Amino acid sequence: MAIARSIIADSPLMVNRVIGRYMNPIALCVERLSLMPDLAELEHWDSRYREGRPPWDTGRVSAELQRRLAQFEIPPCRAIEFGCGTGTNAIWLAQQGFDVVAADLSPLAIQQARKKAEQAGVAVLFLQADVTELPDLGPPFDFFFDRGCYHAVRRSKAEEFLQQLDRVTSPDAWGIVLTGNSRESRQPGPPTVSEDELRRELGRSFELVSLEEFRFDQEEPDGHRHLGWSCVLRKKPRR
Ligand SMILES: C[S@@+](CC[C@H](N)C(=O)[O-])C[C@H]1O[C@@H](n2cnc3c(N)ncnc32)[C@H](O)[C@@H]1O
Repeated sequence: MAIARSIIADSPLMVNRVIGRYMNPIALCVERLSLMPDLAELEHWDSRYREGRPPWDTGRVSAELQRRLAQFEIPPCRAIEFGCGTGTNAIWLAQQGFDVVAADLSPLAIQQARKKAEQAGVAVLFLQADVTELPDLGPPFDFFFDRGCYHAVRRSKAEEFLQQLDRVTSPDAWGIVLTGNSRESRQPGPPTVSEDELRRELGRSFELVSLEEFRFDQEEPDGHRHLGWSCVLRKKPRR
């Protein structure tokens, strides 16, 4: 499984060949079945990047990330971004002095992110990975950022995501999460989350230091910007 996943990182088309080489036929069938949902999800997101620039990929650093970091004076530290897309925010964080690991399920997004970091002359560890089953990433992270990954992943794998979030963050870690807001009436738009859901899910391991409404940077053709939640979190001490 570990072998298959590391190969998916660079070439999803090689998955079957590699599994076939290392597994017996029965195990192979089981493996194929268990990989299928992940591959469908991977293909879904990858196709969003293949079909052109997705609406969230503005190429501009998130104004809300910048505002919240400054507001809470979160200092540069070891950081992880979940669902980093093409890496604009991860690269910016690295330019601010953060030591950044950034993960996304889409190989294409990661390819574009690596290219952008190289062009910017910035070191970020971009990783093609599923945030609901992350590999060992070394020491825990003191800060995490998530714009638009949690609100998508939670629909099918909330529990797995929350477990990974808890596992990879240090005691006292800060987090900034930007999600869709169930008070937004305009659809289609980003997946939405209610205040209760946020408090119940993220509030398990984190204190919600600040929860405010904000507007996503991306604009609809008529100028509408979708309503979101801007959450600043602090890890709770372990009981
Ligand atoms: C709405 S996009 C936001 C991308 C980026 N954060 C941004 O703001 O530009 C959601 C991202 O989450 C990624 N994603 C979805 N499910 C994922 C998973 N299970 N593991 C890692 N990344 C995932 C998608 O590939 C996509 O790039």
